[in-house]
Amino acid sequence: MAMTGIINSKGGVGKSTGAVNLSATAGKNGNKVLLVDLDPQGSCTKNLGIDELSIKHNFVLDDYAATRMFYEKVAPSKLIIDTGFGFDIIPAGRDLLKLEQYIPSIPNGDSLLLRVFNADEALDYDYIFFDSPGFMGHIVASIINLTGDITISNIATPGSTRGLVDLLEMIEEMNEFRESFPGLDPINIRGHFFCRAEPKTIVHREQDQEVMEVLGDAHLANFSISKTTDIGTSEKICKPFISMSPTHKVTNEFQALFEELFKEDK
Ligand SMILES: Nc1ncnc2c1ncn2[C@@H]1O[C@H](COP(=O)(O)OP(=O)(O)O)[C@@H](O)[C@H]1O
Ligand SMILES: [Mg+2]
Repeated sequence: MAMTGIINSKGGVGKSTGAVNLSATAGKNGNKVLLVDLDPQGSCTKNLGIDELSIKHNFVLDDYAATRMFYEKVAPSKLIIDTGFGFDIIPAGRDLLKLEQYIPSIPNGDSLLLRVFNADEALDYDYIFFDSPGFMGHIVASIINLTGDITISNIATPGSTRGLVDLLEMIEEMNEFRESFPGLDPINIRGHFFCRAEPKTIVHREQDQEVMEVLGDAHLANFSISKTTDIGTSEKICKPFISMSPTHKVTNEFQALFEELFKEDK
């Protein structure tokens, strides 16, 4: 089982789009896939039409919301909904915001999510993706403690490395802590990719270079998801982009990105 958190310390950089479409791509490749929405904005949940699904099938979304893993230690496998797009989701909503206060109020709060997942023997997936909030806090720390692995989504605008420096600092601190636990590996940076990209522009090339200097090998140079207005359309009709447009260039880019990210897990 491979797990990764889609992370950036900023919002609007393609985390949720990446999480949904990488999950859909992994599913399309014949894998059992779970997407855990841990962003209070609940973009993945909304963009997959889970709100509508809850009305149609007469369940209350709160019953399935990701917060229950933290407050009631409900097993993740009990919170799963089939998206109908070849992968499952644990949906989320605004109540996740409360976690930023709740998690530090309990002992070893940042590893609560890890404990809940480890205790769940029914969880059986090839890939688990975590969508995350666009700010560094206890939800992000919880995800990283569990996965030990992050995938950074970004957009190539001036200053795209600024958030990365904060993120790398946080990872360094977490790694220092991990060193004192035998058997815990340093956090793996699986990769960094640009979303909403216009690779031929000067600004893209400049930012590509800057990120390479900050991240080194972790930056997947040439792995960009091109800008297309159709992403907005797919969100409106509540379908993953790759399911809406299976032969689109951007669908192939998600496939190539998925293969690159997980080439060592095969
Ligand atoms: N490849 C793309 N082309 C065009 N728009 C995109 C692309 N990827 C993401 N977007 C848009 O950019 C916005 C931010 O993306 P999102 O995935 O929600 O970012 P985050 O989760 O990091 O906040 C959304 O409105 C989304 O529709
Ligand atoms: Mg998001």
